[in-house]
Amino acid sequence: MDSFSTLIRTASHEQHVEAETSTFMSDLLGGRLGVDAYARYTEQLWFVYGALESDARELAQDPVAGPFIQPELFRLAALERDLTHLRGPDWRSTLTALPATQAYAARVAECARTWPAGYIAHHYTRYLGDLSGGQIIRGKAEKTWGFERKGDGVRFYVFEEISNPAAFKRGYRELLDALPVDDLEKQRIVTECKRAFSLNTDLFRALGEEFPLSA
Ligand code: HEM
Repeated sequence: MDSFSTLIRTASHEQHVEAETSTFMSDLLGGRLGVDAYARYTEQLWFVYGALESDARELAQDPVAGPFIQPELFRLAALERDLTHLRGPDWRSTLTALPATQAYAARVAECARTWPAGYIAHHYTRYLGDLSGGQIIRGKAEKTWGFERKGDGVRFYVFEEISNPAAFKRGYRELLDALPVDDLEKQRIVTECKRAFSLNTDLFRALGEEFPLSA
C-alpha cells in the first residue's frame, strides 16, 4: 500500500492542477494583474494564516497535530511585514476578508479547535505548497512588481529558518507517514485536504471576479 504522504499528494493532484491553472493564479503569474490584486491576495492570506497559527500553542501539545507545529513555518509575522510594505502602516484599518476567505478561515479554525487531525490537512495544503510552488510565485512577484529579492512584499514566501526546503519536505512527509491514526481517519484527512484545496479554489475564483482583466 502507498504511504500516506503519497496518498494525500495523489488524491489532491487533480485539484492542485485546478488551483495552479485558475484564472486568478494564471493572470497573477502571467504578470497581467496590478500590484493591487497581489496585495488583496496577501490580505486574504493574513486571515487564513491567522486561523492556522493562532491556536498553534495548544495544538503543539496535541499527540497527532503536535509534531507538525514547527515555528520555522509560521507566516503571520512575514505577512504583516509584507502588508506594511504593500498597504502602508495602517494596513489593518482597510483590511477586509472576502466571504470565501471567511469560509476558509472559519473551517481552519474549526478544525484547529475540534479536530487536530483535520487541521493537519489544512497545514499540509498551505505550508507544503508555500515551500514548493510558493517559490515560483515569489520569483514572478519580484519580477512583475519590482520587489527586492526575498525582501518586503514577498517575505511570506521566504522561509528564513529553513535552509534546505527539499530536506524539510522529506521530514514533513515522514511525519505524515508516521501519523498515529487508523486508516479511516487517514481517509478523513484526505477528504479534508480536498476540501482545503476547494477552499483555495473558491478564494481564487472570488479574487478573479474582483480583478477581472479588462477585455
Ligand atoms: C501557480 C501556483 C502553483 C504552482 C506553480 C505550484 C507548484 C508546485 C510544485 C512544482 C510542487 C512540487 C514540489 C515538490 O515535489 O517538491 C508543488 C507542490 C505542492 N503544492 Fe503547489 N503550486 C501552486 C499552487 C498551489 C496551491 C494554490 C496550493 C494549495 C493551496 C498548492 C499546494 C501544494 C502542495 C500541498 C504541494 C505538496 C505536494 C506533495 O508533495 O505532497 N500549490 N506545487
